[in-house]
Amino acid sequence: MKTIVIYFSAEAGKTRKIAEELSKALSAELFEIRPEQPYSEADLKWINPFARCNKEKRGKADVPITGRIENWDEYDTVYLGFPIWYYAAPNVVNTFCKGYDWIGKTIHIFATSGSSGIGKTAVRLEPYVKGANIADAKRVTSASEIISEAKVESL
Ligand SMILES: Cc1cc2nc3c(=O)[nH]c(=O)nc-3n(C[C@H](O)[C@H](O)[C@H](O)COP(=O)(O)O)c2cc1C
Repeated sequence: MKTIVIYFSAEAGKTRKIAEELSKALSAELFEIRPEQPYSEADLKWINPFARCNKEKRGKADVPITGRIENWDEYDTVYLGFPIWYYAAPNVVNTFCKGYDWIGKTIHIFATSGSSGIGKTAVRLEPYVKGANIADAKRVTSASEIISEAKVESL
């Protein structure tokens, strides 16, 4: 069994910190989903209807990504972390997922948020990870909330 921790983080690095700690604890590979064009502070101002984040959301737009996981077939377990945007995964995460074959993969979703619970986040991601088993999806505030369970699963 081979595990990879994949994450997207944009605002304050909250998700990045958790992903880094998790990958260290599991001795697993770490991959960052990076948009070709990084998000500026203005891009993330969801209060502004014309901000990039709102335009992307409205248009359900794909967000071009830089970098690729070359040895994808080697992994069977994926920890996928991202901030909740509008009660769902950010579009860039959907775009990332579209680019890979998910058949037979097990996914554990971990998400950070301002206050929203995990809600329908996982269900909304399902169309982009066809053939995968989403084993669980949790809203977390620290890596310690998922590390011990993840360690047991990767034994
Ligand atoms: C465009 C955008 C939309 C967001 N939507 C939500 C939301 O629906 N619910 C919520 O609780 N927080 C929301 N947030 C807050 C982020 O989920 C939260 O700050 C997250 O922990 C940031 O993680 P990061 O530092 O790894 O980017 C949103 C933030 C942005 C920038």
